[in-house]
Amino acid sequence: MTTTDYAPPEERERWGSRIGLILAMAGNAVGLGNFLRFPNQAAQNGQGAFMVAYFISLLLLGIPLMWMEWGIGRRGGHFGFSTCPGMFQSLTRAKWVKFAGAIGVVMPLLIVIYYVYIESWTLGYAVQSATGVLTGDDPAAHFKRYLGDGGGFLGFESLQGSWEAYGFFGITIAVNLWVLSRGLSKGIEVIAKIGMPILLLCAVALVARVLSLPDVDGRTALDGLAIYWDPSQWKALFDNALAEDLFGRTSAIIWLAAAGQIFFTLSVGSGAINTYASYVKRDEDVALTGLATVSTNEFCEVILGGTLAIPAAYVFTGMSGVMEGSGSNMGLAFITMPDVFEQIPLFGQASGVAILGTLWFGLLFVAGITSSLALSQPTMAFFQDTMGLTRRKSAMVVGAIILIFVQPVILMEGVLDEIDYWAGTFGLVFFSTIEVILFMWVFGAGNAWKEIHLGSDIRIPRIFKFIMTWVTPIVLLLMLYTWGKDVALEVLQFRDNPNGDPYTEAGKVGAYVGRTLMITLFAFFVVMVGVAARRGRFKRVEHLQPEDSA
Ligand code: TRP
Repeated sequence: MTTTDYAPPEERERWGSRIGLILAMAGNAVGLGNFLRFPNQAAQNGQGAFMVAYFISLLLLGIPLMWMEWGIGRRGGHFGFSTCPGMFQSLTRAKWVKFAGAIGVVMPLLIVIYYVYIESWTLGYAVQSATGVLTGDDPAAHFKRYLGDGGGFLGFESLQGSWEAYGFFGITIAVNLWVLSRGLSKGIEVIAKIGMPILLLCAVALVARVLSLPDVDGRTALDGLAIYWDPSQWKALFDNALAEDLFGRTSAIIWLAAAGQIFFTLSVGSGAINTYASYVKRDEDVALTGLATVSTNEFCEVILGGTLAIPAAYVFTGMSGVMEGSGSNMGLAFITMPDVFEQIPLFGQASGVAILGTLWFGLLFVAGITSSLALSQPTMAFFQDTMGLTRRKSAMVVGAIILIFVQPVILMEGVLDEIDYWAGTFGLVFFSTIEVILFMWVFGAGNAWKEIHLGSDIRIPRIFKFIMTWVTPIVLLLMLYTWGKDVALEVLQFRDNPNGDPYTEAGKVGAYVGRTLMITLFAFFVVMVGVAARRGRFKRVEHLQPEDSA
């Protein structure tokens, strides 16, 4: 095969404008993680102590990885690759790296399978708030009914799924696929340009309402904010016994949870950022834009996300309510928040659910969809780039995969948690480790630093070169070790589930199903990479020396 098999750079899709790129990247990062996952994680894993570990992880892992993924992605795009197999191959001649790159296609796909499902709940709840269905209903009972109360279908207590939930899921996936099939600048970018301002407006309006809440039994919203910002808890981070006393968690768990949140919220460690960055021109800045992505995400997470669920729940339900809501999966967002809105009178109406609920769930839906598009794009691009499918056909294949594989997620207990654990938590650390070693050590720190600074609008402080070369990989390896030893091994051997509780029988079945599903998809993509390699798709870069990179 000849080099004409490559999509020449001028035929590649591109972002339409810089502001479009920035908003699309912000949309990628800002998601359910900022408004749901962050408050849950912070409340459960050390609160003030969590925040310290969180900011340290941001500096040592999040920001460096963001820059690296932008660099790897833009470079890959230059050689006609939008996904990690080709991108990795453009960093070294070693042929196996393209197979490791397959993880960077599978992981976002695995995440999006359950992510879109949760996203569809937010749509369902937004519609139900707006139409008054939620007003006056008992939130806990409503949530249970919405998800299907496990009516014993086929004799399995755990098989669930209501038609309502299915319906909203169908709509959500259809909207996602429609946007994806319109392409980058006409689809994803347009949604980001409309969605991100709406998201900010909803969030600011809700934050204003929460901060102006009257106190209940002497509890104010500011007391609720102190849950994160109370410095007296900081030292618990360095003292296992104290941490266990205060939060029932050891400091190691607090560190891992904080770092895990940084990965998830910034979307790093899965290949999703790389794909978006591959549509940037070779000489266009990535250093400043990468930093802008981080800043926007952190503003939306720490300032906006942090000022919504926890303080609101605190005012109305106190600390015990906060812990109960954040301790159960999704309880804070789908049960506690409607409960709180019910008690906020608004515009002469006794209940604020209709308006505040629409704002809250609408905000979550917009945050969710801009992220699920980003999570789907690597698979879209993979089928287009390496298999030669059209955009529409790619979207149909992606849709079919999600529709098939989401069924066990909807119907069986434990599948969602299992995939979220391997792909959405452990996998991000694992894949980041491969990326850092490949980029900073194999491709080389000097080359990597040059790559990131090509056409850049800022000079990154030199200390980050040291951090990226030494600190980030060492911290990652330490995390893999601790995590592997304390959590992954337990899970792998069916002792404790990802939440640290013993597996139930149904949960074990779910875990088996989840693992089978993950291995199946991974094997499929490894084979596809092999087929693409046989067709000569990676030939040119296989002969490349890092020095010929320009
Ligand atoms: N960052 C998004 C959120 O906060 C989710 C997300 C998008 C993501 N792409 C990702 C998470 C890649 C992990 C990996 O909700």
